[in-house]
Amino acid sequence: MKKSRQGNREAAGEGGLGVWLIGARGGLATTLVAGVELILRNKTSRCGLVTETPAFAPLKLRPLGRLVFGGHEVRKGSLFESAMEIHRDNGTIPYEGLLEIREALDAADTRIREGTVMNCGDAIRNLAGKKIRAKHRSLAEIVKAITADLEEFRRSTGVDRVVVVNLASTEPPLNLEPAHKTPTGLQRLIKNDVRAAMRASGLYAWAAIRLGMPFLNFTPSNACLTPGHVKLAMKKGVPVMGNDGKTGETLVKSALAPMFKYRNFRVLTWQGYNILGDRDGQILSDPRNRRSKIKSKDGLLSHILGYPLNTHVSIEYAPSLSDLKTAWDFVHFQGFLDYKMSLQFTWQGCDAILAAPIVLDMVRLADHAQRRGEAGLMTQLACFFKSPLGVDEHDLHFQFHHLMAYLDT
Ligand SMILES: NC(=O)c1ccc[n+]([C@@H]2O[C@H](COP(=O)([O-])OP(=O)(O)OC[C@H]3O[C@@H](n4cnc5c(N)ncnc54)[C@H](O)[C@@H]3O)[C@@H](O)[C@H]2O)c1
Repeated sequence: MKKSRQGNREAAGEGGLGVWLIGARGGLATTLVAGVELILRNKTSRCGLVTETPAFAPLKLRPLGRLVFGGHEVRKGSLFESAMEIHRDNGTIPYEGLLEIREALDAADTRIREGTVMNCGDAIRNLAGKKIRAKHRSLAEIVKAITADLEEFRRSTGVDRVVVVNLASTEPPLNLEPAHKTPTGLQRLIKNDVRAAMRASGLYAWAAIRLGMPFLNFTPSNACLTPGHVKLAMKKGVPVMGNDGKTGETLVKSALAPMFKYRNFRVLTWQGYNILGDRDGQILSDPRNRRSKIKSKDGLLSHILGYPLNTHVSIEYAPSLSDLKTAWDFVHFQGFLDYKMSLQFTWQGCDAILAAPIVLDMVRLADHAQRRGEAGLMTQLACFFKSPLGVDEHDLHFQFHHLMAYLDT
């Protein structure tokens, strides 16, 4: 029998799950779309996907072949070009595979729409094409355009649900005011065009939640899912979760720090030095954008250990590393007789390879949560986030058990 050029992809439409990626041609989004296409053609295993482990089988989550991708982007180019760039710089997407999935990438490209860089700061603005930078629209007009894109995606693909994921560049932090605490406050900010109080990510989330689409914030951008957004999600019956995917150094920290606690060792100092290249690194080299990331990476140790300690997190841009992020952590701790000892580790992880599968996991679990009629924060997904909203527990082991317990409910 002749093998379909679509691999094992089943027809979209009924039974299809739309996945709308904000930052659709970024390193992570491209790796994710390419990864699914390669898996469907049996070119690679499902390694890294938590939802492919036996514990999740009874949930009957949406098969990967039912996912249909689209999204917003602000840079010019194509998904295929992004995938070629990734192949050239990191070698994670194999060249032969790339040629085989080109048609599928091109098809997904036709579903990518122009996004907004409203109040995202200069580092992100400078990524965008001239046309996008020159555009002046009110907040209400931007929301209307995002809404129209999402509706058109749902209608034209015939999918029965759309999950929206923020994979866009990290924005500078936003000072949250009382207006961000309620849906009516947010609505007022949008209606009165208070541009300084909103950022692009918050407008995407607002539009998605109002349309009843589950929303995941994989970035540390705090303007995205404000308390007002979460309350709107509760009201509209929409599952949401954030912030900032836990994939590298912070994942290791959240697994290791509990060990010191279990043995009553006192951690005195935990210093983490991160170097990374690629576009994410470039954006994070702007001190304003970096502040969002450092805040998200630094908070969990004192939470896990239960006392304040000397910590430091630095993130430096080293272009030649591309997506191969390197972290060196030094942990100084004391034990019996107050004797001081140390642990050091070096982590070299490819960011997109670590992140793409857990984004897919969360998309499938968000779809499942909405099918079960759940709304508001999906705290069961805490183990996937550096700063899980609504969760004080940062110990990876407890977070994972929470997810396992959820599967039994
Ligand atoms: N391991 C990981 O990869 C990891 C872990 C945690 C968080 N994150 C976060 O995920 C995000 C994506 O990471 P990446 O490595 O793919 O970065 P990237 O720079 O390769 O991709 C980001 C994409 O978003 C686009 N973009 C920026 N602002 C936009 C906007 N307002 N609307 C639409 N598109 C916009 C950019 O043009 C770019 O294509 C970053 O915020 C990063 O901090 C990644």
